[in-house]
Amino acid sequence: MSVAVVVGMQWGDEGKGKIIDLLAENVDIVARYQGGHNAGHTICFNNKQFVLHLIPSGIFHEDKLCVIGNGVVVDPHALVDEMRQLEETGLNLEGRLIISDRANIIMPYHGTSDKGRESDSGFQKIGTTGRGIGPSYADKIARAGIRTCDLRDETYLTERLRANYDEKQKILQTLYRTELPEFNSLLDELMSYRETILKYIADTHTFMRDQISQNKNILCEGAQGTMLDVDHGTYPFVTSSNSTAGGACTGLGIPPTKIDRVLGVIKAYTTRVGEGPFPTELLDADGERLGKVGHEFGATTGRARRCGWFDAVVARYGVHLNGVDALVLTKVDVLDGFDTIKVCTGYKYKGKVFSDMPADPEVIANCDPVYVEFDGWSESTLGIQDYDKLPQNAKNYIDRLSELVETPFMMISTGPDREQTILRESLF
Ligand code: GDP
Ligand code: IMO
Ligand code: MG
Repeated sequence: MSVAVVVGMQWGDEGKGKIIDLLAENVDIVARYQGGHNAGHTICFNNKQFVLHLIPSGIFHEDKLCVIGNGVVVDPHALVDEMRQLEETGLNLEGRLIISDRANIIMPYHGTSDKGRESDSGFQKIGTTGRGIGPSYADKIARAGIRTCDLRDETYLTERLRANYDEKQKILQTLYRTELPEFNSLLDELMSYRETILKYIADTHTFMRDQISQNKNILCEGAQGTMLDVDHGTYPFVTSSNSTAGGACTGLGIPPTKIDRVLGVIKAYTTRVGEGPFPTELLDADGERLGKVGHEFGATTGRARRCGWFDAVVARYGVHLNGVDALVLTKVDVLDGFDTIKVCTGYKYKGKVFSDMPADPEVIANCDPVYVEFDGWSESTLGIQDYDKLPQNAKNYIDRLSELVETPFMMISTGPDREQTILRESLF
């Protein structure tokens, strides 16, 4: 039996979707533990590309089960839409997709509130995906949320929605001069998804417990990344859930004693979407080149991702916080052709060098990164599957990164496709 958590090590978009899809071949279950349809996980095989938002990245392996855990916030419209798109490709989801009956639902007023706050000059703009993620988690913590199990009982669902409706109507009218749709139209919309969703919901904690006791191999899929974790990331420029490995326990109902491995996915450079401090950000031709060669555009919103050099302060922080025992390094091919590649090993601020991640936004935003430099390589690494075939300077770079972050690279990704991967160690 083995349970492994796969976690993003930077500000998201590290290539988790590709890696989880690849690893899913040798597991029984892939289970998402947090986030919502703010995530965009890209999977490429057989010359096709798919972007998943809510559905776990194991779905393209027809003999695997996929779980959406209680820690995920589910927008019924987005869910049903994504399910239909997958079914149109010929995939069967019934009996393969299991959604927690304890997951909180994202309602249309969550999106309104998210966008309203983002455009309100009185608030700090976060650059959210506008998907209602923050307001939905806020309702969950405030014990006002509507959960998937509430769909089973129409009377209870109507009461819950009524209480929320009256409160949200007042807030949205006062703050953003926005009118909610009629109560009945919101209820009818929710009810229109009821039949579909009820077919898929179940007690996923007991399901996971039984699967673990049957010695099944399980991958817990994180969305976003360590630096977007609400507790440990660059707060307030974070998402509203625990994307770090601990989120797998609360977000799936798996006890910590059952987790065997934690795998970190990390890009050979760094990207970030939205606002917030980013010490190694490059606002020059090198940054532009990383964005262009790496096709760094948000898989959910299409926004250009900010790009910068690899940050070993971030990486070490993620290794320690998540208890990462192996890493996957992605997008090495994007560095092909750079004369010099830099890696940040510390943050210099007012004469002090931080090698551990500081909490203060002021320090992270205004520090000077301390860089070490590497000679680049001119050869193409795209699609290389054998470590020995990498150019010597690429090997030097990878080996030195591994030393700096005190963790081995189990896999190295050299292109978006499943096949474009160097496997150095198997997961289980
Ligand atoms: P995720 O959110 O962590 O799943 O990552 P995204 O899918 O949002 O972004 C990663 C992007 O990089 C996607 O377009 C992938 O297809 C692509 N990708 C993943 N691994 C590699 C790689 O090794 N090389 C290149 N060039 N692209 C990659
Ligand atoms: P994946 O799973 C990159 C960012 C948003 C914004 C902040 C808060 O594909 O790695 P939210 O809508 O969550 O309240 O926005 O978090 N963000 C992501 N950035 N990848 C993601 O997911 C992200 N999900 C949210 O851009 O800065
Ligand atoms: Mg993404």
